[in-house]
Amino acid sequence: MDRRSQELDTATWMRVFNEAARLGVLHVHLSGGEPTARQDIVELTAHCVRSGLYTNLITSGVGAAEARLDALSDAGLDHVQLSIQAAHGDNAERIGGMSGAHAQKLNFARSVVERGLPLTVNAVIHRGNVGEVGDLIELAVAMRAKRLEIAHTQYYGWAQLNRSALMPTRAQADASIALVEEARRRFEGQIVIDLVLPDYYANYPKPCTGGWGRRTLNVTPSGKVLPCHAAETIPGLDFWSVKNRTLADVWWNSPAFNAFRGTDWMSEPCRSCDRKDRDWGGCRCQALALTGDASATDPACHKSPLHKPMQTLATSESSTSEPPPYVYRTIRSSPDKQPSDTKMT
Ligand code: SF4
Ligand code: FES
Repeated sequence: MDRRSQELDTATWMRVFNEAARLGVLHVHLSGGEPTARQDIVELTAHCVRSGLYTNLITSGVGAAEARLDALSDAGLDHVQLSIQAAHGDNAERIGGMSGAHAQKLNFARSVVERGLPLTVNAVIHRGNVGEVGDLIELAVAMRAKRLEIAHTQYYGWAQLNRSALMPTRAQADASIALVEEARRRFEGQIVIDLVLPDYYANYPKPCTGGWGRRTLNVTPSGKVLPCHAAETIPGLDFWSVKNRTLADVWWNSPAFNAFRGTDWMSEPCRSCDRKDRDWGGCRCQALALTGDASATDPACHKSPLHKPMQTLATSESSTSEPPPYVYRTIRSSPDKQPSDTKMT
């Protein structure tokens, strides 16, 4: 949610992409906000292609996105990822809070496929759309997407703030998983369906970002380099910027990247666990959100003393007859306005 006046200029982004390619980065996700709102998105995409980076445009598909598709395709864009909020327009627009958006997204998807670009559809799953998972799969197939992500909400940042409005019941989560498994068999060879499991009902955590500072980095619009997209929720981390450092310097030397890199920072039960270099102790942002300590074992793990309270919390938040209204993110609502009472004690 950086202000436009704080954004990196075109030349700096180009330098960052050059440095990323030299550092060994293979794949760049041009994300946002909405990346097609950048006037120079075509120029930046072409530059990534020239630098040898595989380019994925992560877009809402509304606004300027469709008008820019021809130019992006000509620039060599490799792949498009489109978010949808639900399978049916009325519900999708209720969740997204934007009238007319669903129809625009369907048109955009059609245009992407007509241009021969591979399309991934991303659907974040929660209480408001978990009953539409079967229809979402059918819709993605009808859209001729190559890949569908059925991604259960990860509760940190703004989703943490909205957790009690978004949490599905365990039965709903289990039903969605069964639908994905059945559809994977039915549509084998036609569409790949990725599933991000609901952490609050899991027994083990996910290896978030593939391990902190191991495989991925995020550069914000204003140039801060983050180990994961929610890292700024962790207080006390010093995020270096590409405005005055090279990307390689940030990657190897910044205190934020070294804070949870590897396994030396771990305490028990992770320190002596034989899975510590498989899941890397889970998600630091989720550990912070639920325990108040970013270096704690992710409570999604059954070995965490807070695992049972986490599941109890999910059961209680998902069982209310009426969920509370959504709190939407706006340019004026900075992350430091998030309440801290979402953690467990
Ligand atoms: Fe992973 Fe730590 Fe749980 Fe072991 S104890 S499974 S390393 S989160
Ligand atoms: Fe930050 Fe998982 S989102 S480590």
